[in-house]
Order: sequence, then C-alpha cells, then structure tokens
Amino acid sequence: MSNPDPRLAGCNVNRIVFAEPTIVQRVKQLGEDITAAYPDGELLVLGLLKGCCIFLSDLVRQILRPLNIDFLVAASYGTDVVSSGEVRLLYDPETSLDGKHVLVVEDIIDSGYTLGVIMQLLAARRPRSLAICALLDKRVATQLHVEPRFVGFHAPNEFLVGYGLDHAEEFRHLPYIASLA
Ligand code: IMP
Ligand code: MG
Repeated sequence: MSNPDPRLAGCNVNRIVFAEPTIVQRVKQLGEDITAAYPDGELLVLGLLKGCCIFLSDLVRQILRPLNIDFLVAASYGTDVVSSGEVRLLYDPETSLDGKHVLVVEDIIDSGYTLGVIMQLLAARRPRSLAICALLDKRVATQLHVEPRFVGFHAPNEFLVGYGLDHAEEFRHLPYIASLA
C-alpha cells in the first residue's frame, strides 16, 4: 500500500482482500437475510470469541427484530486440531437454548472442525433451530464438518487478518480484511 496504515505499526499487509465499504454493504445484506429467515420465535445470536467480536457487533445492528446476544469461548488442543480431537468450552453461555433459534457467529471457517464439535454440543441443548453465520468461508475442508447457512464472503486460501481476525493477536482492529501472504 502506498499510504501506510498507522494501525499496522510498521508491519506490511500484502493486499486488501475485502475493503471497508465492501464489508459494510455485505454485512447489511446479511442482516436483511437473517431478519427475513427468522420471522418469529426467540433469536439468540451466539458469537465465538474472539474472532467474531467486530463482525457480530456490526451484524446485530443490521438484524431488524428482537434478539439476545451471548458468547462462547472454545479451546482446541494440539497443533493439529483434527487429530487431537479435543474441544473444551472455556466460557459456556448461561442462557438456555431450549426452544430458541440459535445463530452461531464465527469469523472464518477453515476446516470447520472446532465449530463442528461445538454445533454437536449445542444441538444437544434442544434449540428450536441451530445455524451458522460465518463472515468468511475458505472452503478448503477436506472433511466437511459444518455447512454455514449464512456466509459473508468466500475467501481465498491465504492467511487473512482484520475485522476481528488476528495473527498472534495483532490486526483485529483493522476495518478491512487483508492478506498476510
Ligand atoms: P477451523 O477449525 O479449521 O475451521 O479453524 C477456524 C479458526 O482458525 C477460525 O475461527 C480462526 O480463529 C482461525 N483461522 C483460520 N484461518 C484463518 C485466517 O486466515 N486468518 C486468521 N485466523 C484464521
Ligand atoms: Mg476463531
């Protein structure tokens, strides 16, 4: 980039993949789609921290119906989550899911493994419906663990940062999504 972003503190991102106005427009459309998809019943928007923080905050303001917000924090063990196979919830919502529409909000689906385990845990709590809204879908899954109902963008198979996505906890606050590759 010719004009370096002061948020980057000297680091260089390779290129902007999704610019701020593109994200704003897409999130508005997702909000409209979600509003239309849930004409009745209680809606619980359940964010997976920390990656969902910026996306969820913008998204819920575009969903024009009553809703509640809660969060989940999960940890996967091992460097290879697929072979380690253990997912632990570090924070589990207090809110009951029984009889509610539950919409899980995730930043990016790569293998979808962790999310797949979480969806099984949540399904056992008898929600009225259970669906995923992912900002980004990399679609590189060799084993498809989950199928999101709502997707912001199909993403290239590059390491992406910004708009909640991090690299070693940096870059979450960028208002755009950039590639580090
Ligand atoms: P999965 O369990 O393989 O689907 O991994 C998804 C998680 O890995 C996401 O929630 C992110 O935290 C992280 N992740 C995957 N790809 C990226 C990326 O390109 N940038 C930042 N984080 C990523
Ligand atoms: Mg994440």
